[in-house]
Amino acid sequence: MSVFLGIDIGTSGTKTLAIDERGKILAHATAEYPCYAPKPLWSEQDPDDWWKAVIATVRAVMQKGKLKPEDVKGIGLSGQMHGSVFLDKQDRVIRRALLWNDQRTTAECEEIEERAGGRKKLIKMVANPALTGFTAPKILWLRNHEPKNFAKLAKVLLPKDDVRRRLTGEYATEVSDASGMLLLDVAKRTWSKPLLSKLELDESLLGRCYESEEVTGTLTKAAAEELGLTTDCKVVGGAGDCAAGAVGNGIVNSGVLSTSIGTSGVMFVHSDEVKIDPEGRVHTFCHAVRGKWHLMGVTLSAGGSLQWFRNALCQELHEEAKKKGLEPYDLLTKEAAAVDAGSEGLYFLPYLSGERTPHADPHARGCFIGLTLAHGRGHMVRSIMEGVTHSLRDSLEIFRELKIPVKQIRASGGGSRSPLWRQIQADVFGQKVTTLNAEEGPAYGVALLAAVGCGAFKNIQEACAATIRVEKETPPQKPAVRTYDTAFPIYQRLYESLRKDFRRIAEAK
Ligand code: XUL
Repeated sequence: MSVFLGIDIGTSGTKTLAIDERGKILAHATAEYPCYAPKPLWSEQDPDDWWKAVIATVRAVMQKGKLKPEDVKGIGLSGQMHGSVFLDKQDRVIRRALLWNDQRTTAECEEIEERAGGRKKLIKMVANPALTGFTAPKILWLRNHEPKNFAKLAKVLLPKDDVRRRLTGEYATEVSDASGMLLLDVAKRTWSKPLLSKLELDESLLGRCYESEEVTGTLTKAAAEELGLTTDCKVVGGAGDCAAGAVGNGIVNSGVLSTSIGTSGVMFVHSDEVKIDPEGRVHTFCHAVRGKWHLMGVTLSAGGSLQWFRNALCQELHEEAKKKGLEPYDLLTKEAAAVDAGSEGLYFLPYLSGERTPHADPHARGCFIGLTLAHGRGHMVRSIMEGVTHSLRDSLEIFRELKIPVKQIRASGGGSRSPLWRQIQADVFGQKVTTLNAEEGPAYGVALLAAVGCGAFKNIQEACAATIRVEKETPPQKPAVRTYDTAFPIYQRLYESLRKDFRRIAEAK
């Protein structure tokens, strides 16, 4: 038997799963770790925590699935994108990694645009504008703010690629995750020498860049011993969590879009060609499908908005839910389902950690707008779900504007497990939303890539066709579609009305 492992280094924890050569899941395990926010707008993690979680989850999966080490032929790696692992010459971690949702680099983004000769030229070189979450501004931040640390810097790796280094001893990445560093010529799928030179960064800081299903190395003796595997086990490129999740949802052909509501929300669409938004509102990245691309929009606080509401304002619900054998979310969703579409005029802007798409504004803030005495908790919960979905629609409208075909929408992530939130999505998008037979997310996508890299399938399209099926459909309901078509432009204008005040609020502190 051949077994393939998918390992996803997420923000709240690492998930590892094992599949057989037909894509059947044999076992999975997760392990959590902390996230540090030592200052406002900062978000950091310790790469050693990721490694410990990888060891724990691989060992747990081997045990749970009663798997033999020699059967594990390949590993695929996925992870939170954009994070910066700074290493010195001896491969020691210099400081905690800055994460994708860290917002400290506004000045460095401006510096990058300036050095590149303007936003347009930057987009021409790397297909995207400089955003605070991306990796290149983080490297410049280290140079500008921690020069002693920068002097020690020998390599900058993405989260999953630091795990790869510990597994194989190789400094390597792959095109989908590398796209989010802002240092890759996305059209050519190679590092951008012109931009590196303008930023005065040496290419030797970066790992070798592969396609997602290519083999990047095999396990070192030490790693094989630590994980209980063999040194014959191959490690393929894998993918950033968005592309990996999309592969896990079968988004590997033109016309299919996935919407994923986890902590962040991601709208992801496959493209056979490099299509770039000249305004840089959505990202154009290489796909984990060889020679293909994808476009993507990110809502930074999607499920995260509801999680914030539950944690900050609904502590007492935990007890009540426990007594009923439910989750607090179940109770909140029930209250929201009793409210009509449109939340009786209550709007929620989900910008709790600033916003990525379409505003790229770290100063944006979360708001409830339109509260009256008639509104209760159910309205607030429903308006959070609606506000997050309007934010996802912002991305969808840009894809439509760029004439990217969207024939099928597949919903995934924790948020999409709620029938109410799925219905809100179908109604806000005005299109049918489908869900799949199995929803295992990024870890499943990269396990499939490992299976392709080790020869179990011809290519990733074949692997997805053999394993992924549409199971449920949620059609839009006409009256709600009309309500949301009226609400959406109002939602959009609210940000425009508040933009300058968000900046003033940030500066007033
Ligand atoms: C994608 C992004 C997030 C992280 C979360 O651009 O920043 O989705 O990858 O894990």
